[in-house]
Formats: sequence, structure tokens, C-alpha cells
Amino acid sequence: MDSTFVVIFSSLILTIISIIFFKTKKSSKLNLPPGKYGWPLYGETIEYISKPEAFMRDRMAKYSKEIFKTSVLGEKVAILCGHSGHKFLYSNDTKLFQFWMPPSLASALSVKDDDKNSTSSKLLHEQLHKFLKMESLQHFVPIMDTKARHHFETFWCPFQQVKVQPLTKHFTFMLTCCLFIKYSNEEQVKELAKPFFDLHEGTMSESVSLPFYSAKKRQETVQKKIISIIKERQLELINKGGSKNNDDGIGGGFQDLLTRVLITASHEIDEKVIAGIINSLLFASFYTISTAITFIVYYLADHPHVYHKVLQEHLEIARSKKDGELLNWKDIQKMKYSWNVACESMRLRPPALGSFREVLNDFTYAGFRVPKGWKVAWNVYSTHKDPKYFPDPEKFEPSRFEGNNNPLPPYAYVPFGGGPFMCGGKEYARIEILVFLHNLVTRFKFSRVNPMEEIIYTPIPTPLQGLPIHLQKIN
Ligand code: HEM
Repeated sequence: MDSTFVVIFSSLILTIISIIFFKTKKSSKLNLPPGKYGWPLYGETIEYISKPEAFMRDRMAKYSKEIFKTSVLGEKVAILCGHSGHKFLYSNDTKLFQFWMPPSLASALSVKDDDKNSTSSKLLHEQLHKFLKMESLQHFVPIMDTKARHHFETFWCPFQQVKVQPLTKHFTFMLTCCLFIKYSNEEQVKELAKPFFDLHEGTMSESVSLPFYSAKKRQETVQKKIISIIKERQLELINKGGSKNNDDGIGGGFQDLLTRVLITASHEIDEKVIAGIINSLLFASFYTISTAITFIVYYLADHPHVYHKVLQEHLEIARSKKDGELLNWKDIQKMKYSWNVACESMRLRPPALGSFREVLNDFTYAGFRVPKGWKVAWNVYSTHKDPKYFPDPEKFEPSRFEGNNNPLPPYAYVPFGGGPFMCGGKEYARIEILVFLHNLVTRFKFSRVNPMEEIIYTPIPTPLQGLPIHLQKIN
């Protein structure tokens, strides 16, 4: 009995050893990129999400500045680094790669591959493209300014101290709801905000601790709410007699995205598909813009000379206007220094970490082979903190973005990505950020309550206490 046990046990050990040996031999024959997969199941997900900058810096130093392998979110991933890696990824998008989203995010956003080619999805994307074009965006400026004035009068002016992050989240969500789905009443916005935050904040925190986290229930609640908004709007249009009148009551001949979709639909729309895309758009714009604004305030509070230059730019614009006159498109074009400040802030604290693609065919990069079915990723931290592109990279220096001060190679500065999947909302974001900044600096000087406040990553950079600041009104 004992000898049988010894024989079975030894053959088991031998089998395991030979599997490991042949697997290692096979993978070294494949010449996979250097790197490690980390823990079973979790891989290196926690480091990737909660310490993204150190994750990239350490692995690029240890393995390769061009490409390394890891395992995150249950997938084998090759991360392409530096401006050349970004260029390779973006220029092979749709040829070698296809867009890929982590399953936890795809389920929260209810993104399904089959939906992409549906008539409703095509209709919404066509309308979105027109909605985000310059000709249309110009009309958003006075609306954004009206909303920003109301926001500051209500939530900032009565106080001597405020928390910036909850307020930028409130402003951004309220504005997105107004422009995308014509939800401009505070109560209505709250009704959508509650399930929306439960869904997305849950997805971000729980997908890290639970690798097979599913957001199905919360996603269904958000979807139901958006479908009820679609039905409301359809009814409203029927009551108006299907009027294609261009004005929806917000003013300036402006029409929200959802109404545009409904009045141009020639067939019955698939409400679930439309609701899924609207949820994705709210998500894409909300976290990114609110984070961008939060960190601009953070850097302005710490750099009074930069704040002073921004203030001068905005006072000049304010002086050129009549009493009460709203900002317009021309004013936005004058906010050049302010945009350099925003760019520098997004270099140091990028609102989006990067994204993934799925490999459609084996390929070789920098001498290493990446097999079909793997994922590839690009990551802002592979370039944004590299002194080769940004001398003295930790320094907050908006003049880097002035004229030709520091001609950067293409794809070294990538807060909005690049190539065919580059962010379509960049100009929208630019306008919203600048309008907010105008309303902030022309009202207040400010300083941080806790200069030692910790910044955590989810992977979105987040000030742990919400960035409390002291406000000092200016006349
Ligand atoms: C500061 C604000 C923003 C930042 C930093 C940002 C960043 C990004 C990044 C990094 C990507 C991924 C690109 C890639 O995969 O290569 C992306 C994609 C996208 N963004 Fe933004 N974004 C911002 C605002 C917005 C806004 C306001 C909207 C909508 C109005 C928007 C809509 C989208 C969409 C639809 C995509 C997917 C593009 C596609 O699949 O073709 N983003 N964004």
C-alpha cells in the first residue's frame, strides 16, 4: 500500500515538473516579452490599478522600455511603451487589434459586440459625431456658462471653504445630463445620479477586489432609468406633433443628443442599445472631466504665479464683455494659457490611464512575439513622466505647452489617446474645463486646506479628502 502511494506520488510530481518544463520551453521558444504574470487569478491587477505610475516606472526599468508582459483583470497583456509603442498600437488599431474593454466595465456599461452594428447604435453614433463637431459645440458655450454661473452662485459663493471634487462631479454630471438628455432639473438629475454612482463607483472599487465581479443588477437599474427617460422624451415629441423644431427650451436653438436621435430615427429604436450608449457616454465624460478640473484647481492652489497669469487672461476677457454677457466661442479661443495649464495638469494627473485592445493576429514588436488572443495596452505613464519628453518631469510647468517650447514626438502626450479610437469628446471637454475655470478664477483666490492630502488611484487619481480648499472672494 505504502509503495503504491510512493509510486503514484512520484509520478504526479514528475508530471507537474514536465508540464512546467515544457511550458517554459514553449514560451521561451515563442520569445514572449519580458515580465511576470503575478498572482494566480489577480495577476498584477492591484498594482496596475492602485499604483499605476510606479507600476509602469518599475517594470519599464526592470524589463524593457519598449514592451513588457503582465497579467491584469484575468488577461495576459503586453504593454507597449514610449511614444513609439503608442504609435505602433494606434496605427495598427483595426488592422492588428480590436477595441477591448475589461469585462467588469463592459458589463457595467452593457457594451455588447452584437449591438455595435445595430441600426440604433449606428444612428446614435452618427448623431454623436455631429453633436461633438465644432459647429455644434460652439452653441454649448453660453449654455455651459449659464450652468456654471448658477453652480458657483449656489454651491461656492455662500461658503468660505468647499470640497472641490464632489462639486466638480456634481457640476459635470448635471451639465452632461442637460446637454445629452435634456435633464436640467436638480431633482431629475438626482434620480439618475444615485443609481449611476452606485453602479460605477461599485464597479471601480469591487472589480479590483473581486476578479469576477458582475455589475448586472446595478446596470439594469441604470438602464431602466435611462429607458424611462427615453420614453418620456418620445411622449413629449409625440405631444408636440413630432415637431422637428430646433429649440428645446434650453435656449440658443440648442438640441440635446437624445432628442436629435429620436427625431432622426426613421425606424423604431432599440431602447436598450440607446440606453447602453448613453450610459457609456455619461461615464466617459463624467469621471474624466471632473477629475481634470479637480487637479487643475489643485495645481492652481499650489502655484500662485500660475493662478495669477490665468486670472489675467480671464479678467481681460471679462473686461471685454458687457455686464452679464455670457461667454462665447471667441472667448474660448482666447483662453490659451489656461488650456496650457489644463494640459500640464493632465500630464501629471491624467484622468484616464490608457486602454486595451485585443490581438487579432500574432505580431512581433521590438523583437518579442505577442500571440493572437492576448491583450495589448497603452498607458499614459509610459511617457508622461519620462524626462526624455518632459524635462524635470515632476515640475508643474504649463509653459511646456507654449508654442514650440518643447517639440514633442507624436504620441508622447496622450491624455486623450490617439489613432482611430482617440477620444471624440476632447473639444467638448476643453470647452467645459475652460468655462469652469473662467467662473472659478474670476470669483475666488483659493488655497488647499490640507497641503499633505494623499492622492489615491482607482485608477482615476482621487484626493482622499475630496480636496477641501479655503475660498477668498475677489472683487
Ligand atoms: C478630460 C476629459 C477626457 C479625457 C481625458 C478622455 C480620455 C479618453 C481616452 C484616453 C480614451 C481612450 C482612447 C483609446 O482607447 O485609445 C477616450 C475614449 C473615448 N472618449 Fe474620452 N476623454 C475625455 C472626455 C470625453 C467626453 C466629454 C466624451 C463625450 C462627450 C468622451 C467620449 C469618449 C468616447 C466615445 C471614447 C471612445 C472612442 C471610440 O471608441 O472610438 N470623452 N477618452
